[in-house]
Amino acid sequence: MADGKKPWGGRFQKPTAKNVEKFTSSIHFDQRLYAYDIEGSIAHATMLASQGIISRTESQKIVSALKSISADIEKGKIKFNVSDEDIHMAIEKELTRRIGETGGKLHTARSRNDQVVLDVRLFLRTEIDSMLALLFQLQNGLVKLAKNEIKTIMPGYTHMQKAQPVLLSHYLLAFVEMFARDGQRMQDCKTRLNVLPLGAAALAGTSLPIDRNKTAKILNFPEISKNSMDTVADRDFIAEFIFSSALIMMHLSRFCEDLILWSSDEFGYIEISDAYTTGSSIMPQKKNPDVAELIRGKSARVYGDLFAIMTLLKGLPMTYNRDLQEDKEPLFDAVDTVKDCLTIFTEMISHTKFNAAKMYLAARGGFSTATEIAEYLVKNGMPFRGAHEIAGKIVAYCLKNKKGLEDLSLKEYKKFYEGFTEEVKDRIKLEKAVNSRNHKGGTATAAVLERIREFENNS
Ligand code: ARG
Repeated sequence: MADGKKPWGGRFQKPTAKNVEKFTSSIHFDQRLYAYDIEGSIAHATMLASQGIISRTESQKIVSALKSISADIEKGKIKFNVSDEDIHMAIEKELTRRIGETGGKLHTARSRNDQVVLDVRLFLRTEIDSMLALLFQLQNGLVKLAKNEIKTIMPGYTHMQKAQPVLLSHYLLAFVEMFARDGQRMQDCKTRLNVLPLGAAALAGTSLPIDRNKTAKILNFPEISKNSMDTVADRDFIAEFIFSSALIMMHLSRFCEDLILWSSDEFGYIEISDAYTTGSSIMPQKKNPDVAELIRGKSARVYGDLFAIMTLLKGLPMTYNRDLQEDKEPLFDAVDTVKDCLTIFTEMISHTKFNAAKMYLAARGGFSTATEIAEYLVKNGMPFRGAHEIAGKIVAYCLKNKKGLEDLSLKEYKKFYEGFTEEVKDRIKLEKAVNSRNHKGGTATAAVLERIREFENNS
């Protein structure tokens, strides 16, 4: 094919304006799909031959040329040009340059409309697998950390106020639960996108005798799409993927927010290793949690990607429209951002020291065991509301007299309720408070260890 001439150029009298070539081209970002494009083309050519649509010799010629093109792209030997428009056309052009007319047979019974969906589905299928592996590594790291920190007690917060003491391990496992659900969501998304689109052609299918099941088998798709118009029109699987990615970022971002606060002098709960922090160019004393801050910041990008894909799709008439070319950059950005953030977060958290003494001390403050007193009274038969009232009065008394709950004598306790015994003094100890919440989902050491075991057995 002469340079500059388009494969679709038959009905055109004038060449494309240079600016239009540049404006419509996606080659600078979709070249990333080259390996999937070639994998799809090889399967397609093989199917065409087995159906007698092209000859075996032609198919073999096409397949071996495609393989050598793939190797050359990998080695950086092929330079792409904006006039190639997109990766599909660039590869076809190179194929024809290498094997002549036979190259032109590859696109039989296919359109770029079903081809591009195929490439993206193949790409995402692989990327989801590597994302799942990263999520899994993170969960494993957190479970290990939870095991090591099983004795560490910290204040649990609601409204950013000290609420009740919990195990640090319980806190860490809360995120493991979230990331586990993120993994399930990704897995689910993969099941839905793992469907062969090829055969839909431009929008209406083809009159040629293709065998879609055959192509599906070669490409390892458990299913084929059921409606050719739906196949080329929709990108819901991309939206779903970016949404699942956005949730991962949201979870990471919340985790980072805590780590940033905890590494402040005011909290002093953690110290992130020097290797995972940065300094200030003016203040020599500073050690900043930039990695955590950037992860928090990058969650905004992925939310932006989600917004972009949702907006892109909302007003499109059926079926394929060129707008859809804009699906790829947000998708690639989401993939790269989430993978980068998962990787660096997993490293950072394994290079973070938890200051158990500081956390313990903090858990003792803020009357975080006042609920213990109320529950103690409930166990002695008092209705919860009344018990709550008495415990509240005890807190007020402590505040007025600048005392902690543990500083009060039994005599002082008895001023609020005659039935108090020495036991109350024991009940408000942090270890006791934590371990009394011993049910599935509770923060008692036994309950947390059981959950750790469950996670270990699942991996
Ligand atoms: N580069 C295009 C995209 O990403 C490929 C499909 C083009 N199809 C077409 N009929 N112009 O959507």
